[in-house]
Amino acid sequence: MTPGRHARIAAVGSALPRRVVPNRYFESLVETSDQWIVERTGIHARRFAGAGETTASLSTEAARRALASAGTAPEAVDLLIVATCTPDRPLPSTAAFVQARLGMSCPAFDLNAACAGFVYGISVGTSQVTAGAADRVLVVGAEVLSRVLNMTDRTTCVLFGDGAGAALLEPGEDAGVIDSVLAMDGAQAELLTIPAGGSEEPTTAESLAKLRNTIHMRDGQAVFKQAVVAMAAAATELLDKAGLQPSDVDTVVAHQANARIILAVGKRLGIDPSKVFLDIAEVGNTSAASIPIALDRAWRSGRLSRGDLVLTAAFGAGLAWGANLIRWTADVPNDHA
Ligand code: UT7
Repeated sequence: MTPGRHARIAAVGSALPRRVVPNRYFESLVETSDQWIVERTGIHARRFAGAGETTASLSTEAARRALASAGTAPEAVDLLIVATCTPDRPLPSTAAFVQARLGMSCPAFDLNAACAGFVYGISVGTSQVTAGAADRVLVVGAEVLSRVLNMTDRTTCVLFGDGAGAALLEPGEDAGVIDSVLAMDGAQAELLTIPAGGSEEPTTAESLAKLRNTIHMRDGQAVFKQAVVAMAAAATELLDKAGLQPSDVDTVVAHQANARIILAVGKRLGIDPSKVFLDIAEVGNTSAASIPIALDRAWRSGRLSRGDLVLTAAFGAGLAWGANLIRWTADVPNDHA
């Protein structure tokens, strides 16, 4: 780390597909109800990508909004990281398509830490800035999960949505991104997985017929319980390292997997529910995109102000999880980008 060099978030941006899919859509596909989905998850609707909308196209739109709000030209970006588990293609990276569409010439790569991808990306991007290896790092979280859903599995198909969010990191005089905690328990990889489509189980007519190329979640309740404990523990570790208390946190922007999980994390930390930002009702679980989408919606609606202490926390497949502690340094945008 270069002494005295810090990273701050200059701006965020997000993009959602146009198509709104209400809970009732699933009632004709599986044995479920709007009431069950609302009560158990807090989700009322999610967005599904339409023709021509992909992880790269949504990433590009979100990135353009973040850059416009920061007043930064795409060519000024030194590194692009796209966190996703639903890339446009296995090869090349989604970041390659986003880099080209934005007219950038910087290095770019994808990062897969599933739902924790954005938290991981902010940590990696911050390290690049503080080390002096890059001045401006664009971190995108983007997913098109609707294309890997099993629409006959009610335990998963009602949970997920599509979208993208982006954050521009740049050097700051004081720490904007104060610190991060990252974690992984690969021994629990089977709990949440897309079994086929990789080198272990290549796509075949048989794997497609068995829908092995879709999201499989085993024991949602176990994932639920671990998510609450792990996110709260990561947040506590982070606050302790920074010498701060949960009461110092102004806003919690957690991965929007389930409203009950997020509120339980807040409760475990002793943080007032009014400080916990929720937008899962409108967007569902968008995996790596959920935190940057929520940050953008919170910021543009005036929920985040300069000087606020923001705690992010995420948990998902891997099992991978983590948290970032951020001093918000961006003024509320007036560009309506
Ligand atoms: O972002 C990645 C990380 N993922 C997560 O964090 C997900 C964590 N897990 C969860 O959010 C919750 O466990 C779920 C929302 C997935 C499920 O909620 P739950 O309150 O844990 O329900 P459950 O799994 O205990 O299931 C209760 C009942 C079951 O029926 P029986 O066995 O009691 O007859 C399920 O079969 O609800 C049934 N069920 C449904 N019923 C109507 C499961 N999915 C549905 C559904 N509609 N969509």
